[in-house]
Amino acid sequence: MTETLTREQPDTIIADYLEAQEHKSHLRFLTCGSVDDGKSTLIGRLLYDAKTLFEDQISQLHQDSRNHGTAGEDIDFALLVDGLEAEREQGITIDVAYRFFATPKRRFIVADTPGHLQYTRNMVTGASTADLAIVLVDARKGLLEQTRRHSFIASLLGIRHIVLAVNKIDLIGYDEAVFNQIVQDYQAFARELGFTTIQALPVSARFGDNIRSSSEKMPWYQGPALLEWLETVATDSADAAEPDFRFPVQYVSRPHADFRGFAGTIASGRISVGDEITVARSGVSSAIRYIVTADGELETAQAGQAVTLVLEDERDISRGDMLAHPQSRPQVSDRLAAKLVWFTQEPLRAGRQYWLRSQTDQVSVTVNTLNYRIDIENTQKQFAQEPADQLQMNEIGQVAFQLSAPLAFDPYGQNRATGSFILIDRLTNATVAAGLIDHSLRKASHIHVQAAKVTPAERAEQKYQKPALLWFTGLSGSGKSVLATVLEQRLHLAAKHTFILDGDNLRHGLNSDLGFSAEERSENIRRVAETSRLMLDAGLIVLVSVIAPLAQDRALGRHLAGDHDFIEVFVDTPLEVCEARDVKGLYAKARAGEIRDFTGIDAPYERPVAPELHLRGATASVDDLADQIEHYLNQRGLIYSLVDEGWSI
Ligand code: ADX
Repeated sequence: MTETLTREQPDTIIADYLEAQEHKSHLRFLTCGSVDDGKSTLIGRLLYDAKTLFEDQISQLHQDSRNHGTAGEDIDFALLVDGLEAEREQGITIDVAYRFFATPKRRFIVADTPGHLQYTRNMVTGASTADLAIVLVDARKGLLEQTRRHSFIASLLGIRHIVLAVNKIDLIGYDEAVFNQIVQDYQAFARELGFTTIQALPVSARFGDNIRSSSEKMPWYQGPALLEWLETVATDSADAAEPDFRFPVQYVSRPHADFRGFAGTIASGRISVGDEITVARSGVSSAIRYIVTADGELETAQAGQAVTLVLEDERDISRGDMLAHPQSRPQVSDRLAAKLVWFTQEPLRAGRQYWLRSQTDQVSVTVNTLNYRIDIENTQKQFAQEPADQLQMNEIGQVAFQLSAPLAFDPYGQNRATGSFILIDRLTNATVAAGLIDHSLRKASHIHVQAAKVTPAERAEQKYQKPALLWFTGLSGSGKSVLATVLEQRLHLAAKHTFILDGDNLRHGLNSDLGFSAEERSENIRRVAETSRLMLDAGLIVLVSVIAPLAQDRALGRHLAGDHDFIEVFVDTPLEVCEARDVKGLYAKARAGEIRDFTGIDAPYERPVAPELHLRGATASVDDLADQIEHYLNQRGLIYSLVDEGWSI
């Protein structure tokens, strides 16, 4: 069944052999199951039976088996793969070793996912690229919690083929009835997991029964041996339609002025010279001029290849951008629903911020809500979604995220590469979870950004000004709006193009459907921030005047301003002063209980921690305060800089 190369073979035969190897289909798989089910022994046995081991490894293995083995006079195959395990368990990063072997029909890539404690995290990593999982069950023990958990994770990660290897069958006297019972239990359990094939085999990894060829000890078993099955099972990658082209830009390569290429590894699909491409987030388009690799230029390249793409046009593209074909763009969203497999002792709680890393992009995320936890242990009601306020280590649940910037992605069910991510703790840098994107929480997720031909910079230039966002925040009655109005008059006199977005005014139109609950205020601020973003892009100096009591909401305004100047102006007027002024009579009403959720009375105001300008509203006149702002804007070169630079000439 396996093949060997001899020294006598002439070069052409070797070339033919290599060529054949190149074109063999390959199968990626991993093994999982409970501790001591014989995972390492099975992998060792496969490598040995496929004759992938070298003589020196085999003699070393014989020696090690005699010295430290647990298999008496026989070879302890586990020693072959366990060597690295202890070392890896010390490691901080997720670490999966891939082992390669081949038979005449196929090449195999086994994800060796070690570590008992950290098994789940390693398994997630290995499973995200695998076609098939070998689920090992100890024939003496039957299905265990780990069997269920790992099968569930395999299903979640998109594995569609399962081999149920009922191992240590020698220890139960090759008993057919026990085998049948385990198979029956597993099939009943896995019914809802969506596997395409479940091939059950009675095996003894230690003695090689039903591994390479059918075992004489089990005449009752008529099915294929493990290697035969692995050689023939139809893999998803072979049958499924090729996924769309996705190229996450890893870095911009600019070795000299005439060359600008975008380097990275193709995440899925293929690309050819001449193909049109679009940048997912910005909508900017061009076409492929060259595909460059370390070994020269290519006409076409596909998933897994590291290439540098050179475009027909100079385009503004940077690390973290994703290139796609214009007719099949990925989604872009800053609000996502995703499943998380939680990795660490410290549980996940809603409200926390993490880094989300997907392909080459990294954004900050806030977990808004934990929608549910999946109960894997409950054998009565399988995979029930239950409410939870935290996720413990190894638990799986679905969360809703708010991202600090839009992410280009595909739902995991459509594309495993661009639908997965990891979450990173911002302080310790540890990987705390693996994630699978379910869907965007934006309603129109199939709408893509159109690139404009006139840029924000060109619009601003036409107005002879640098756009800026002045964000006035403070209690009701602190003097924000009056100040913004006075400042706008001054800017207007200086020939600046301005606009005021005032909370009270907007609540008569754009935001007339919103009240003052925490959620409605957040939505109010989101709309204000989005509107100011449009105005910044239009080239205006925008003055926003809203209470915006929550730091998180104000941060969105800052974030959306992007590269534009953002100036947070904290109009810090003490509550007593605002209440004494009570210009609109609202404080009196709030005290009387006629208005609910009134900021400063029965709703919170989070004071800005590091505003660009901190004005003491009660201590100076409006004109003095406006002077302070103007002085600051001058210092930053925002008002008169254009004149100074000679624009008026
Ligand atoms: S925000 O909190 O969502 O930022 P916004 O600035 O738009 O508030 O509107 C605040 C204005 O609404 C106040 O200046 C006040 O005139 C009015 N208002 C009415 N009810 C409330 C309330 N419960 N809390 C605060 N402001 C209120």
